[in-house]
Amino acid sequence: MRLTLDAPLDMHLHLREQEMLDLVAPFSAAQFAGGVVMPNLIQPVDTLARLRDYRAAILRACGGASFHPYMTLFFREYSREELIEARGEIIGLKLYPAGITTQSEAGVSDFDRIGPTVALLEELGIPLLVHGETNGFVMDREREFLRVYQWLAETFPRLRIVMEHITTAEAVTLLDRYDNLAATVTLHHLMITLDDVAGGLLQPDLFCKPIAKTPRDRDALRQAVFGGHPRLIFGSDSAPHPRHKKECCGCAAGVFSAPVTLPMLAQLFEEAERLERLADFVSTNGARFYQITPPQKSVELLRTPWRVPELCGAVRPFLAGQTLRWSLDEGSRGRE
Ligand code: DOR
Ligand code: ZN
Repeated sequence: MRLTLDAPLDMHLHLREQEMLDLVAPFSAAQFAGGVVMPNLIQPVDTLARLRDYRAAILRACGGASFHPYMTLFFREYSREELIEARGEIIGLKLYPAGITTQSEAGVSDFDRIGPTVALLEELGIPLLVHGETNGFVMDREREFLRVYQWLAETFPRLRIVMEHITTAEAVTLLDRYDNLAATVTLHHLMITLDDVAGGLLQPDLFCKPIAKTPRDRDALRQAVFGGHPRLIFGSDSAPHPRHKKECCGCAAGVFSAPVTLPMLAQLFEEAERLERLADFVSTNGARFYQITPPQKSVELLRTPWRVPELCGAVRPFLAGQTLRWSLDEGSRGRE
């Protein structure tokens, strides 16, 4: 059995830089027509010059494979002139609360000051992508942040806002209250709960921000995604860290799911008897909300078992060593 996906997109992706970029970009380029690239490099991508250099490095790292990097600028206060100049080269601005996750120290520490820049985004039709967590108790951070989403959605009704990597039932509920909200959902948050991370021996490869939540939350995500919610968009949040940064005191947050994304998603949708909805989640919903026309590229999956490698270079992938029911058709890799 074969499954063909037209222009699948990964709408939340960490590609890093230098050797790590060279290692991880080909996994995404083999499976997706494009992806939304996060700007949280060691030096955040917050100028157009840096963004252009980064985009060129990504294209080099993809080698011959066709992959459209949809670039984001790291949120700070921007002038109208800066945003007008950037508009044609970005898909949005990515807002991180200061210090909330990997390389986000330069993020927002005072939300009372973001209004003018956000108003410009609304006026210029540039989407706002948000890592929505407070610095409260770790299990409550996303729920506590929902009032910020609500404020944004009400104050800027024409602004397209993406609630990134949602993990809670309440975030799903909020989506239905405002048409200008969409949300990305990761593969791992459809699969794991806090129990998988810390219920037995600690699993550093599953530690990420936002932390995986309760079975009730995971079920709400699954129900909404498999139910075909039109504003739920696939975004892997694949976030590679070398093993020595995961298997140590002070484990870095991030799940490296890029090598397994489409095969495992096909398996999940098949198990839910909703395989016909996979294309909406990975192709249609994102393109519609962002109003983009991705490059032509069809990606083929085969219903042939495939064993996930234990390691990809220095990084351990999500589901390492497990056998998945679907695999990428190597023969059709990135056919255009
Ligand atoms: O777990 C995470 N890792 N969450 C994020 O928001 C950032 C990411 C990273 O860049 O490592
Ligand atoms: Zn992320």
